[in-house]
Amino acid sequence: QMEIVILPDSAEVGRVAASVIADVVARKPDGALGLATGSSPLAIYDELARRAAAGELDFSRMRGFALDEYVGLDYAHPESYHAVIDRTVTKPLGMDPELVSVPDGLAQDVPAACAAYEAAIDAAGGIDVQILGIGANGHIGFNEPTSSLASRTRIKTLTPKTRADNARFFDSPEAVPTHCVTQGLGTILRARRLVLVAQGEAKAEAIAAAVEGPVSASCPASVLQLHEHATVVIDEGAASRL
Ligand code: GLP
Repeated sequence: QMEIVILPDSAEVGRVAASVIADVVARKPDGALGLATGSSPLAIYDELARRAAAGELDFSRMRGFALDEYVGLDYAHPESYHAVIDRTVTKPLGMDPELVSVPDGLAQDVPAACAAYEAAIDAAGGIDVQILGIGANGHIGFNEPTSSLASRTRIKTLTPKTRADNARFFDSPEAVPTHCVTQGLGTILRARRLVLVAQGEAKAEAIAAAVEGPVSASCPASVLQLHEHATVVIDEGAASRL
């Protein structure tokens, strides 16, 4: 069942979504978190960092698996998801960098690296709770519209829209990588619990399609309807088309 929680603002979205993550960490301190980049989950990480600093939560034995990474972007680049996860999650939450994995966008053999990533998730016992943002076109991770609902970690071409959306993080629109490696929709559905967050009217259409539309590859986030334990935590702006 999908649970929809509508809250007045982004900080409140972060607090409620963080409490779901905190429950998992408290119950299973050596469990596995699915990590997302983008601005939407930052409110979650802020709240979790606050609770970790207060000594309420210990992330030092938690594993982390990021959803995605650009292909061919040096990990030293501040916008590589290796760098972003390290800066916004691993360090502020006090996770052990050895236990945090991000898909390999620099592998010589990308399919082998993708298979190894899936195997690493399995070896960790699967993901206990997966944090998700949503793109304006309904993408989750970098699973753009038309992604197979059963897909696993693989290389994908970024759509012109997503490259344009993310151009603000790079020196020029041409500097945005053209490809990515992302967990598949099938990978995401294997997590025991999903928590998707979205804030603002720019996400309202994608949220309406994900929650009330048909389950369809044209809105990848609609796969949440197939999951037994998915929670969508949004502000009033993101809820405005429901
Ligand atoms: C990016 C990421 C997604 C993220 C989405 C929305 O391209 N790959 O994981 O959910 O776009 O980003 P934001 O939260 O900044 O709107």
